[in-house]
Amino acid sequence: MGAKIISGTETAKSIREELKTEVAELKEKHNVVPGLVTILVGADPASQVYVGAKEKTSKVLGIYSERYDLPEDTSEEDLLALVEKCNKNEKLHGILVQLPLPKHINEAKVLYAIDPDKDVDGFHPVNVGKMVLGEQCFLPCTPHGILELLERSGVETSGAETVVLGRSNIVGKPIANLMIQKRASGNATVTVCHTRTADMKFHTKRADILIVAVGVPKFVTGDMVKEGVVVIDVGVNRIGKTDTGKAILAGDVDFDSVKDKASAITPVPGGVGPMTITMLMKNTVQAAKQAAGL
Ligand code: GUN
Repeated sequence: MGAKIISGTETAKSIREELKTEVAELKEKHNVVPGLVTILVGADPASQVYVGAKEKTSKVLGIYSERYDLPEDTSEEDLLALVEKCNKNEKLHGILVQLPLPKHINEAKVLYAIDPDKDVDGFHPVNVGKMVLGEQCFLPCTPHGILELLERSGVETSGAETVVLGRSNIVGKPIANLMIQKRASGNATVTVCHTRTADMKFHTKRADILIVAVGVPKFVTGDMVKEGVVVIDVGVNRIGKTDTGKAILAGDVDFDSVKDKASAITPVPGGVGPMTITMLMKNTVQAAKQAAGL
């Protein structure tokens, strides 16, 4: 029996439809147009694709968008000045600085400069702190998307042995935190594995839900999981190019060997990726509503 494919593309599509209706209503009833600014420093091809997709999705949903493409040698001072300008701009409810930033810029300093009320990435310490405390806040987009995927696919998380591979600030740490909260798609028993974990397979074999965000193509193979596991693959790795120059993508999970044992699995592409952008849009709409006191 093959695994159920958890389609992020389909789930994202239905959430985007909901958002499109909400954006139209906000405009009609309250004359509020949510606004998002994306800031990209340098010309990393993957980041350019992500920022382009964010801008395009904003437009499709009726969200006002601005985009800054800054050169690689932009100074930290100039970037901070731009963030400050966006903090003050009332047309902008969400500010997204694409990561990673060039080495000469202090990433934390830039993220901390964003007004927490406009921090639609959920990376500001105020929002991270609120998230850990279980208070209402902007949730980081990829973990938020994973929660929605689990919930909308009917995966029971309460009491589930959940193993997270990876401890990044963007995925591993926040998803582990969210899944231990007393909430829908929470109440899980969570183990976090990382590069210093002594026996990775011991942990992955125990997992009812396995969330993989390590950045290594096909890291998890069929022999590492148990029958019936639900697998969420967060990896987006460029492993080559087609004849026409299009990137060939692989997840962090070896889909072919894992799918026969799993009860459900997200594909790459078409799994977590589309959800991340959709949750960014959701946070931007939320930011606009909050700013308008709605
Ligand atoms: N780089 C990779 N993922 C993300 C994300 O979710 N937000 C931002 N700003 N940069 C990223």
